[in-house]
Amino acid sequence: MYRVKQTVISVGSKGPAAMPVVVAVPKELDPGEQRVATVPEVVQKLTMSGYEVRIEHDAGASAYYPDDLFTAAGARIASSRTDLLNGAQIVLRVQPPTVAEVDQLAEGTIVIGFMNAMNNLEAVAQMRDRKVTAFALELVPRITRAQSMDALSSQATAGGYMAAILGAENCPKFLPMLTTAAGTIRPATVLILGAGVAGLMAIATAKRLGAIVEAYDVRRAAGEQVRSLGAKFLELEINAEGQGGYARELTPEEKAKEQQMVSAAVARADIVITTANIPGRKAPLLITKETVARMRAGAVIVDLAAESGGNCELTQPGKTVREHGVKILGPQNLPARVPFHSSQMYAKNLQSFLALLVNKDGAIVKEFSDEILAASLLVHAGEVRHGPTRDLLSGGKP
Ligand SMILES: NC(=O)c1ccc[n+]([C@@H]2O[C@H](COP(=O)([O-])OP(=O)(O)OC[C@H]3O[C@@H](n4cnc5c(N)ncnc54)[C@H](O)[C@@H]3O)[C@@H](O)[C@H]2O)c1
Repeated sequence: MYRVKQTVISVGSKGPAAMPVVVAVPKELDPGEQRVATVPEVVQKLTMSGYEVRIEHDAGASAYYPDDLFTAAGARIASSRTDLLNGAQIVLRVQPPTVAEVDQLAEGTIVIGFMNAMNNLEAVAQMRDRKVTAFALELVPRITRAQSMDALSSQATAGGYMAAILGAENCPKFLPMLTTAAGTIRPATVLILGAGVAGLMAIATAKRLGAIVEAYDVRRAAGEQVRSLGAKFLELEINAEGQGGYARELTPEEKAKEQQMVSAAVARADIVITTANIPGRKAPLLITKETVARMRAGAVIVDLAAESGGNCELTQPGKTVREHGVKILGPQNLPARVPFHSSQMYAKNLQSFLALLVNKDGAIVKEFSDEILAASLLVHAGEVRHGPTRDLLSGGKP
C-alpha cells in the first residue's frame, strides 16, 4: 500500500507565514476522470512549508489516494464543496471548472489546472466576470526552467504508455518473439507515428514488451531519440521542425510524399500508434481509409490524436471502429486510465508551479511578471489575458 514518506523539505526561509495560504483540491466531476490534482506526498511537503491544504472528501479515491492518507499528510478533509472553498485562495484542479463550479468561487480565487480554454469559452467568460484568476497549465512555456511544471509532458508520458498497453491488449498476437516447445513465434511490429513526448513513451513501452518498433516524425531531430530507444526511424526527405521545437504544417507536396511512405509502413504493422499533432491546428491526416484497407486483418490502430481530429480518417473519438478486420481505437483521456501515477506526476508539476506563485515568505506574489506565470495566466482581474482566447470570446473583434 502507498505510504507517505516522513522526510520533508521546508521551502520557507522564515518558517511558516502567520496567515497560511489556503489551497483547496476539489473532487474532479468530469465523467471518466480518475485523477486528482494533488497526492499525499505533495500535501505533506506543502503543509510543512506553511500551506493549509484542504481536500474534498473522496477527491483521491479513484486514483487510490484515500482520505486517511491525505489526513496523515496534514490535510483537512472537507465534507462539502462549500466547506472546501470557504476562504480558499488557491484551487488546484485537473480538468477545467464548469460554469457551475466557477459560480462557487469567490472573487480573487486563483484556479490552476488544464483549462482547454478554446473549447471552454463559457467557463472562461464566467471566470472573467467573477474576477477569478486562472492559470492554464497547457500554456506553461516549454523552456528548461519550466520542465518540472510541464504537465503536458507528464500526462503525455502516461498517455503514450497506455497507448502501447491498449495496442497490445487489442492485438491478437504476442508482442515478443517466443521460442517454445509449441513452436517459434515471430515478434509483432509496432509503428509509432509522431515521436514527441507520448510517441517516445509508446516506443519505449512497445520495446519493453518485445516488439519490433519503427517510428516516424516530421522533425528530423526526433530520429536520434527514436534510435536511442532501439527503434528504427523511418526517414523521409522532409524536416518540418517549426517554432519552439514543434512541427509545422506540411505543404501539399510534402503531405503526399508522407502519406505514400506512411502507407507502406502502416500496411506491414500489427499495431500502429499515432500521436502526431500540430499545436493549435487539426491533427494531420496520416492514415487514409485506403491505407486501412491495405492493413492485415487483426491489426490495431490506437489514435492518440482522436481528440484533435484524429491521425486516421476513420477514427471516432471515444469509440472503437472496425473496418476490413482492423480495429481503430480513438481513446480519450488516457492518462486517467493510469490515475495513481499520472496524479503523482501532475501533483509534482503543480507543486513546482506553486513555488513560483507563492514566495519564500509564504505569500502569494503580487505581480505575475515571471515569464512562466505571465505566459500561463489565462484570466485575471476581470480580463482574459490570453490573446487567442480573448479574440475567440470577442468573436474576432479587438
Ligand atoms: N521543456 C522542453 O524543452 C520540452 C518539453 C516537452 C516537449 N518538448 C519538445 O516539444 C516537441 C513536441 O512535443 P509534444 O510531444 O508535446 O508534441 P505534440 O503533441 O504537439 O506532437 C507530437 C508529435 O507529432 C509530430 N508531428 C506533427 N506533425 C506530424 C506529421 N505530419 N507526421 C509525423 N509526425 C508529426 C511532432 O513533430 C511531435 O513530435 C518535441 O520537440 C519535444 O522534445 C520540449
